[in-house]
Amino acid sequence: MEPKKFGVIGHPIGHSLSAVMHTRVFKELNLPHTYEAFDVAPENLKEFITNSDLTGINVTIPHKVEVMKLMDELDQSAKDIHAVNTVKLSPQPNTNNPTPQNFKRNSVGHNTDAVGFSESLKEEDINLENKNVLVIGAGGVSRAILISLTNNNANVTLTNRTKQKAIDLIQELSINPKIIDYQELTTKNQLPEIDIIVNTTSIGMHPNENTSPIPKEFLKPNHIIFDAVYNPLKTKLIKDAEFIGCKTISGVNMLVHQGAQSLRIWLGIEPPIQAMKDEVLKHLKTQ
Ligand code: ATR
Repeated sequence: MEPKKFGVIGHPIGHSLSAVMHTRVFKELNLPHTYEAFDVAPENLKEFITNSDLTGINVTIPHKVEVMKLMDELDQSAKDIHAVNTVKLSPQPNTNNPTPQNFKRNSVGHNTDAVGFSESLKEEDINLENKNVLVIGAGGVSRAILISLTNNNANVTLTNRTKQKAIDLIQELSINPKIIDYQELTTKNQLPEIDIIVNTTSIGMHPNENTSPIPKEFLKPNHIIFDAVYNPLKTKLIKDAEFIGCKTISGVNMLVHQGAQSLRIWLGIEPPIQAMKDEVLKHLKTQ
């Protein structure tokens, strides 16, 4: 089999969990492909995409929106979310004769974050249809989750510290969730009617491990908690929720499932989910 090259681009890129996760997949499935992390500054993005000999690229902060403009095509997921996290380049360049014509490839932008989120819940037998879901945060992670929830017919309530950002985001995404004031999250108990709470903010992330978006006393055992933060592996929100007896889902699962969906798009393979999860957890534990 012809070896293919894959990679993730970001700036900064740091220690990439995507690289270790995808490399494990290729090893597990005995595939000759490689996956590397590339630090690409914004001013070099166009050149990188145009001249890349990669078959597939994962895209992370800060390029997810800018890279859209460089695509020949966008699939429905990227159009809905207004951001690209997965690029498929085809056909392969002719490396024996790399003339400029041979390097003209078709680029298609996808976004696998929404599938990553919904698969993380499906794995836990959680059906989103008609569920009351509170989403906290209106940043980059939130947009894919909001689209996933809307596509799965959940009843969404959105809150963000900066309310205007939530208003702008739902307008951009053409969705219509209920918006509540962020202050009310900690002052008034807004949660009696809520089935699933989704934290998409960076609250609780290292080095602010002792913070949580929701006071523990507002949590009830019937709440399902999804925390997109996975550093630390157990955030304060997850620890509080476990103490109360809630079902909890870590952001690691979303990371793994979005990566798995990228592999389906690039190679049409069914990825080994548990091996991917094991590899990511192994690296997070040693960080
Ligand atoms: P990401 O791509 O990870 O979503 P982001 O786009 O910077 O990152 O978004 C961060 C989110 O976390 C935002 O919703 C942000 O709220 P603001 O829009 O008000 O900035 C939220 N956030 C970060 N720190 C927060 C804090 N200490 N309290 C409340 N919200 C916070």
